[in-house]
Amino acid sequence: MKIKAVVFDAYGTLFDIQSVAAVTEQAFPGYGELITQIWRIKQLEYSWLRSLMRRYQDFSVITRDSLAYTLRCLGLQGDAAVFDRIMEKYLHLDLYSDAAATLAALRGRKLAILSNGSTEMLDTLVRNSGLDRELDATISVDAHQIFKPSPDTYVLIEQRLGVAPAEVLFVSSNPWDVCGAKAFGLHVAWIERVTPEAMALACVENDVLPPLTMFKALRTQMDELGLEPDHRIRALAELPRLVG
Ligand code: LAC
Repeated sequence: MKIKAVVFDAYGTLFDIQSVAAVTEQAFPGYGELITQIWRIKQLEYSWLRSLMRRYQDFSVITRDSLAYTLRCLGLQGDAAVFDRIMEKYLHLDLYSDAAATLAALRGRKLAILSNGSTEMLDTLVRNSGLDRELDATISVDAHQIFKPSPDTYVLIEQRLGVAPAEVLFVSSNPWDVCGAKAFGLHVAWIERVTPEAMALACVENDVLPPLTMFKALRTQMDELGLEPDHRIRALAELPRLVG
């Protein structure tokens, strides 16, 4: 595997989308986790529905709409200032602790993000995190007005980096994104942050499953789509050894 470019998903892979819970809990005490999980599930659902309906709106609109849905369905009415404060967190998500060091260790290859995020969201988030110093490109699906896992998104990698799919390692923690990249023809490493054993334990140790456990069951286990990643790793930090 001669890898000339390593391309990362953003939300959930380099950036921890669970880090919005600090802000949602502060805004609506006792509801933070429930808001966080329903919001992410709906956000992705809207990206898939708008792609299928060919009614593209950028990810900032989808993120706002899915947050509005979440607050409404939970009967939580916050004023515009509260809403905007929660949305602002999406521009300041926590980096996973090994993200910056992993990118630095992979220097010498082309390094990029390919994300559903809008161009403006991603540029701001990458700049706020300091990753702009490590990345050669931040690629938003905005360019093709459709969301991952459409093949019309992964094609942007070759168009922007000039590297053939066979020379690209795509990295994501999102199983649906892993399957999309594999279906397109990229080498794929899946960051399996919640193992089946951890998933089973999360179910056993609680009588009533907390929202995070429900989220893990829905969005962190490999899907049954007839596709498998080339590599299953537990953390970004394993990538430099994998790429060699
Ligand atoms: C991304 C999220 C949606 O594309 O996984 O960054």
